[in-house]
Amino acid sequence: MTEVPEYLFERSRQRRIALGLLEDDGSGGGASADSSDGGGQASSGPSSADVIAAAKADAKLEQVGETEIEPAWVSAARQRTKIPMWALPVMFFLPLWAFVYVKLTEPPPEPVTARTEGAATYAAQCASCHGGNGAGSEAGGVGRPLYNGEVLLTFPKLDADLILWLTVGSEGIGIGNPYGATDRPGGAHISGETGANMPGFGGALTEYKIYSVARYIREVLSGEELSDEELAARDAEWEELGGGKDIGGGGHGHGGH
Ligand code: HEC
Repeated sequence: MTEVPEYLFERSRQRRIALGLLEDDGSGGGASADSSDGGGQASSGPSSADVIAAAKADAKLEQVGETEIEPAWVSAARQRTKIPMWALPVMFFLPLWAFVYVKLTEPPPEPVTARTEGAATYAAQCASCHGGNGAGSEAGGVGRPLYNGEVLLTFPKLDADLILWLTVGSEGIGIGNPYGATDRPGGAHISGETGANMPGFGGALTEYKIYSVARYIREVLSGEELSDEELAARDAEWEELGGGKDIGGGGHGHGGH
């Protein structure tokens, strides 16, 4: 229990005197039981408990007055808008939502096919000499043209002849030796006759990559026309060689990169 200081009692007493509740002599007039002449407002007169309560109320008023002057940073903190509770889970899941959103909106990865893989291999290994569209020496490249059906004239079939050429190159065939179709319009092509040599890719590319780049230069650059059955047979052959298994393009089989 807090002790009520003496001066508060005194102040309370003064106030009660002012209100006419207390005699000036401090006797607590009107405290007596006879209320007949005490006047309406003080029927029973203030007890000492009343006085203490009044003093306490007084003291409290005083304290409130004191605490009204608070530091600026405290009032700033009081006035600042609080983050509402519902915002907590929202802020927690926001990064997750962002991640899912990005994942769902980005296009799914294209499936690897013999054609797409052949295109990637061509761009990486062949385009520097044969040109992006296969124009080759007709557009300033070192290699022979591979577009406009040229590949199909030299190699009428996708068979061991073409695969061997890509695997061993000019020197593997032997400079001065013919390669491909001997009855080619304009005569058989002779290894080394262009004055430049084509490197062999047996060491740099796996079998199925040589197969898919052979398909690319025939089917895409030279415009070979095939039935659905022939395409399906080539896809099966490509898979047989190991194509479509290592998504991401890492080489395996003999040679490696
Ligand atoms: C360093 C340059 C170079 C690179 C790289 C190159 N080639 Fe060649 N390619 C040549 C040259 C040169 C010839 C002609 C060879 C000769 O005269 O002996 C040729 C010839 C060819 C031929 C025969 C065309 C014909 O009608 O006689 C084919 C097919 C071919 N290249 C495909 C490819 C493929 C596929 C690649 C990539 C895997 C490739 N080349 C990479 C330079 C290159």
